Amino acid sequence: MSKEAELIVDGKSIKLPVIEGTEHEKALDIAALRAQSGYTTLDIGYKNTGATQSAITFLDGELGILHYRGYSIEQLAEKSDFLEVSYLLIFGELPTKAQYDEFAKEIAAEYTVPEAFKAIIKATPKDAHPMGVLSGLISMLTSFYPETTEENASPANVRKTIVKLLGKLPTLSAWLYKYSLGQEFVEPRKDLDYCSNFVNMMFSENGKAYSINPVMVDAINKLLILHADHEQNCSTSTVRIVGSAHASIPSSISAGISALWGPLHGGANQAVIEMLEAIQNDGGDTKKFLAKAKDKNDTFRLMGFGHRVYKNFDPRAKIIKIACDEILKNLNVNDPVLAIAKGLEEEALSDQYFVDRKLYPNVDFYSGIIYKALGLKAEFFTVMFALGRLPGWTAQWKEMRESGEPIGRPRQIYIGKVDRQYVDINNR
Ligand code: CMC
Repeated sequence: MSKEAELIVDGKSIKLPVIEGTEHEKALDIAALRAQSGYTTLDIGYKNTGATQSAITFLDGELGILHYRGYSIEQLAEKSDFLEVSYLLIFGELPTKAQYDEFAKEIAAEYTVPEAFKAIIKATPKDAHPMGVLSGLISMLTSFYPETTEENASPANVRKTIVKLLGKLPTLSAWLYKYSLGQEFVEPRKDLDYCSNFVNMMFSENGKAYSINPVMVDAINKLLILHADHEQNCSTSTVRIVGSAHASIPSSISAGISALWGPLHGGANQAVIEMLEAIQNDGGDTKKFLAKAKDKNDTFRLMGFGHRVYKNFDPRAKIIKIACDEILKNLNVNDPVLAIAKGLEEEALSDQYFVDRKLYPNVDFYSGIIYKALGLKAEFFTVMFALGRLPGWTAQWKEMRESGEPIGRPRQIYIGKVDRQYVDINNR
């Protein structure tokens, strides 16, 4: 028998269905609350509001668990590769060898982007933040491929558009990087696997010998897997809500890229490195910055610390911390900001303020350190996050449309002025 909860409001009993997920999360279905009682619910920042039922990603913030389609992030990060994880997220199952090969081939065929994009990139300021440009370029794909804007996209069309985005995002990202460095664009290479092709477009230079470093490819592969999905976070909810208006996949992803850019979300990886460098330039006194983070009159926050849902540890941070040590050793990097990061982490973890609020290092505390070790400019760290998050965003868009979700449209409680009379401009 299905369970119900009882809510008594204004003396009236309202029955609310209890919904239970496959991992035993429980929710009250309040869809009929307004009709039955005239009440709505208020939960600013959606801290405890389920916006959908999803079969893609499960996370338990208390226990530090993260699963994609039922597989643990630990297993996937160790054994899988980014394209396989993308397939899993988008289509629900791990691919067979034949399915994987076909998917990889389709994506490689989409590495190229229209020639016009070279001129468009060159028309932007060299020091523009790449996330702003990338969001525009992805939205602009709809004008070159009008079939991607079909409102009621067929499953075949949806797959083609997702594959297009997976193929073209690395090329556009790498070209933005090259442009920011004042270097020529490196053409994509279909003969290389996804991450190797990306590394080649980013770090090789036309006319110069270059051998792809497998340590770098492995590091990027792992980081992309760790970022591939994270259920209903800010950018993913943005993608779903934009798509719920039946906007196209590229337009929805473009909006997701904009949301991700924010320093409280994906932009944190850039902010972490900038913070560590600022501490270093200030003389390296981590205690001074910890005090600033705790001071309610100071807007400074310890970037890379805290998470909306993880309140014990971020499982991605645990994996990436180990990988970070290995990668730095392998690449022979001895960066002084690393010592500052370690000091800050140790002090924060034993500080009552951080303990009381359950603030732990999140994935972005370490990802920025790795990207810096790979030689990337800080503004491009969030672009890397977007590359990783693309399969998650598209999987969530697809799920939302396939399950026929209605347009997203939250309510509000109005707290503004009431019943005012218009006064002519000359009399105010
Ligand atoms: N430094 C100092 N104090 C903090 C921090 C921080 N990084 N994060 C939270 N707090 C305090 C906050 O001031 C509040 O204190 P009080 O209860 O005394 O008012 C308490 O902890 C709860 O914080 P909140 O802002 O209500 O928590 P939230 O769930 O709304 O915010 C967060 C989560 C990630 C936005 C926040 O922890 C933060 O700003 N962290 C720094 C930015 C960051 O690293 N973001 C990346 C998140 S991981 C990547 C991703 O998945 O997007």
